[in-house]
Amino acid sequence: MLDFSRQPPLLRQEILDAIAMVCDSQHFILGPQVAYFEAAVAKSCATRFAIGCASGTDALWLALAAAGIGDNTASTHNSGQPDAVVTSPFSFFATASSILRAGAQPIFADIDPRTFNLSPASVAEVLDGPRGKSVKAILSVHLYGQCADWDGFAALQRNHPGLLLIEDAAQAFGAAWNGTPAGSLGDAAAFSFYPTKNLAAMGDAGLVTTSNPEIDRRVRSLRAHGMTRRYFHDEVGANSRLDELQAAILNVKLLYIDQWNQQRRDRAARYDQLFREAGLVAESIADGIVLPYTDPRATPVFHQYVIRAPRRDALRAHLTAQQIGSEIYYPVPIHLQAALKDLGYKSGVFPHAERASAEVLALPLYPELRDDEQQTVVETIRSFYS
Ligand SMILES: Cc1ncc(COP(=O)(O)O)c(C=O)c1O
Repeated sequence: MLDFSRQPPLLRQEILDAIAMVCDSQHFILGPQVAYFEAAVAKSCATRFAIGCASGTDALWLALAAAGIGDNTASTHNSGQPDAVVTSPFSFFATASSILRAGAQPIFADIDPRTFNLSPASVAEVLDGPRGKSVKAILSVHLYGQCADWDGFAALQRNHPGLLLIEDAAQAFGAAWNGTPAGSLGDAAAFSFYPTKNLAAMGDAGLVTTSNPEIDRRVRSLRAHGMTRRYFHDEVGANSRLDELQAAILNVKLLYIDQWNQQRRDRAARYDQLFREAGLVAESIADGIVLPYTDPRATPVFHQYVIRAPRRDALRAHLTAQQIGSEIYYPVPIHLQAALKDLGYKSGVFPHAERASAEVLALPLYPELRDDEQQTVVETIRSFYS
């Protein structure tokens, strides 16, 4: 799925130099590299603030908690009327677990079957339903690197004063909606720099963006034990700091990210073309492969290139036998995960998310993927279906 050894040799030297600089500085936590990275990301996301933290998972929790959602005690057994957050059942588990960690309850709503992102129309049904009054926020994911329908969510926010919009932008660094960068669409956003992400650290790292000074202040407090002055704790936070080594590596890679995102888009377009030329493409999975759909208002970064494939699991086995990587993001929708069974969701309630889990397949896509390799992937898929 990925081969880091193909990254430019210059990048390797730049990263080694950056690491050496941190070693020489003897400043390892929340130092100048982190401050520089935060300022650079705030600029590129067009937000007032960016706050580095330990992971994308923590960034989600920090964004929610700092926005005043939940009471910070994780439990699936909540008495009374806890804060609720509407989110997508078709995402990485952390999207929902961070809501529980903040001490709020996730309420799921179905996805748009074309984009795989949370559907504003499904969220509207929740807001108008019996639990609507407890909903404090919508946590929407920009899945596979394509922004969710922010026109729809902004309209819901206008109609529900006080409702907060939080972005799970873990897969979407550099993406945009109507030209507005991911990270500045909502009241706060969470990014992940996990090593397989399009902007990747060499370990765990995450970041929150916001233009709200109060959210910024509280994220900075919560990421460092609620400590605004050394050893004086105003609230109970966590240790979720971004370290200097990761920030120094990210500062180097930030110089490449626009080029890498463009290479991803080019390779996605090439796959589209190759699948069409091979005669494999259909509007519906009943007739063939369904290609990724890009909303005309979105600028995607193709964090993943995901098709819907007939007989998906057999196709995947065929690819594996030919030593071609593929992945299923995600084989079990979150509302059916064992850890969340106490929330009471049953199979069948979110047909679009459940179908997606059974049909999606991510193919290798990264900036250095070669044209002949893409041809081999498509040819191997063609041989499976013939
Ligand atoms: C959509 C989504 N949300 C949250 C996360 C969590 O990020 P991290 O792995 O950095 O904790 C990830 C990545 O793994 C993700 O893809």
